[in-house]
Amino acid sequence: MKDVHIGVIGLGNVGSGALTILAANAEQIALKLGFRLRVAAVCSRSVHSLTLPDVPAGALRTEDWRQVVAHPDVDVVAELVGGTTVANQIIDGAIANGKSIVTANKELMALCGAEIWDRAIKANINLAMEASVAGGIPIHAVLREGISGDRIVALAGILNGTSNYILTEMERRGESFDKILVEAQELGYAEADPSADVDGYDARSKLAILSALAFGERITPSDIFVEGIRRITAQDFDYAHQLGHTIRLVCSAQQTERGLILAVRPALIRQSTILAGVKGAYNAVWVKGQFGADTFYYGRGAGSQPTGVAVVSDLMRVAREIRSGSPERVSPFAHERLGEYKPVSITLQHRPYYLRFRVDDRPGIIAELAGILATKHISLEAVLQLPSDTKHDLPFVITVEPSSEQALREAVEQMSRLSFLREPPLALPMEPPL
Ligand SMILES: NC(=O)c1ccc[n+]([C@@H]2O[C@H](COP(=O)([O-])OP(=O)(O)OC[C@H]3O[C@@H](n4cnc5c(N)ncnc54)[C@H](OP(=O)(O)O)[C@@H]3O)[C@@H](O)[C@H]2O)c1
Repeated sequence: MKDVHIGVIGLGNVGSGALTILAANAEQIALKLGFRLRVAAVCSRSVHSLTLPDVPAGALRTEDWRQVVAHPDVDVVAELVGGTTVANQIIDGAIANGKSIVTANKELMALCGAEIWDRAIKANINLAMEASVAGGIPIHAVLREGISGDRIVALAGILNGTSNYILTEMERRGESFDKILVEAQELGYAEADPSADVDGYDARSKLAILSALAFGERITPSDIFVEGIRRITAQDFDYAHQLGHTIRLVCSAQQTERGLILAVRPALIRQSTILAGVKGAYNAVWVKGQFGADTFYYGRGAGSQPTGVAVVSDLMRVAREIRSGSPERVSPFAHERLGEYKPVSITLQHRPYYLRFRVDDRPGIIAELAGILATKHISLEAVLQLPSDTKHDLPFVITVEPSSEQALREAVEQMSRLSFLREPPLALPMEPPL
């Protein structure tokens, strides 16, 4: 069978990882496919200053991505640039030239995946995006094929390796968020501007894509509730441990009678759960199906080679489909609800909550806080206070029985005005065992 030719645009972490694997596994890939994957063109603005040992001598090396998407030999374009501007133009250009596409771009696919997929179907090409969520975990294949016979009712994941690294290091060493963040930046685990990771936006894009695949709803990322990890302290882990829990940035999607509830937020999860064992830069996704019950997927969420494997596996799948003449027919986005869908507000969620206070100590504080909770019909479960050096900045924790998020928010808002509080209370949901 004729070889399939690849054009790789973007030669950074992911692009270079994919090229290394394509070269190192060339024979094995040919045996698995029955034909070869050949790199016909590579592109980045600095391509001429790069040493590219894994690129065949005859391949086009260009600074201009337009030459790749228009290259007559290229069958599949790998968009590994990232962002939403040039990447979008590359995908437009590839579709216009009838080239199939493999992308690792979560941001773009979360924002316009549904439209891109519709255009790919109309253009009779193939499209794949496994690397866009949880790099090394083949979760798209799981949702589109492995358990596609089931009906998904809930999904929860740890989808941002940087945040997970920071939280698990804070937990392990009892250090502050700021200190671990600086270390993570020095080690190259966190960007100079860490906002996308630690404020939850990167995880939100991934949750939007996974929810679209799992529930068939077309979701706008900005409709998903998001809260980052900046306010978590080492002491929160001490309190969480006392309660038999730990803290992770949890991405959750839950199908309820009223619709989907979606959130990215730090939450307490039981230490005995499988998700609590996900440490460092690892990612994990837990999926609950109506018929098949629980399945769990774990692996590296990022990195040149784990993500490179996802890209190469996508290239192989797309190449197989090209050679068997089966272009995309059904979008993995929005198979249930074609219009744009708004998730149900998180304020309808019922959970037990962990409330952490920092107060300037004086008599009657607990009574005052309990009084506010009582007016919102929230029942107090426990009060915890670890020894502290100072009475002027005393941390303690109240946990409450399952309550509506709406009532809890109103209570927190009222509490935030109390003069003895050093900062507004930190409220974290305590997730049910996964
Ligand atoms: N890093 C990971 O572990 C990981 C994991 C999962 C998914 N992803 C996704 O994979 C994509 C790539 O990420 P990355 O980490 O590999 O990024 P990266 O290391 O910054 O690489 C981006 C590449 O794109 C090239 N580029 C930028 N603008 C270009 C343009 N106008 N024309 C041609 N080339 C251009 C850059 O080179 P020049 O500056 O020389 O042009 C560079 O080679 C992103 O969508 C990211 O979200 C990454």
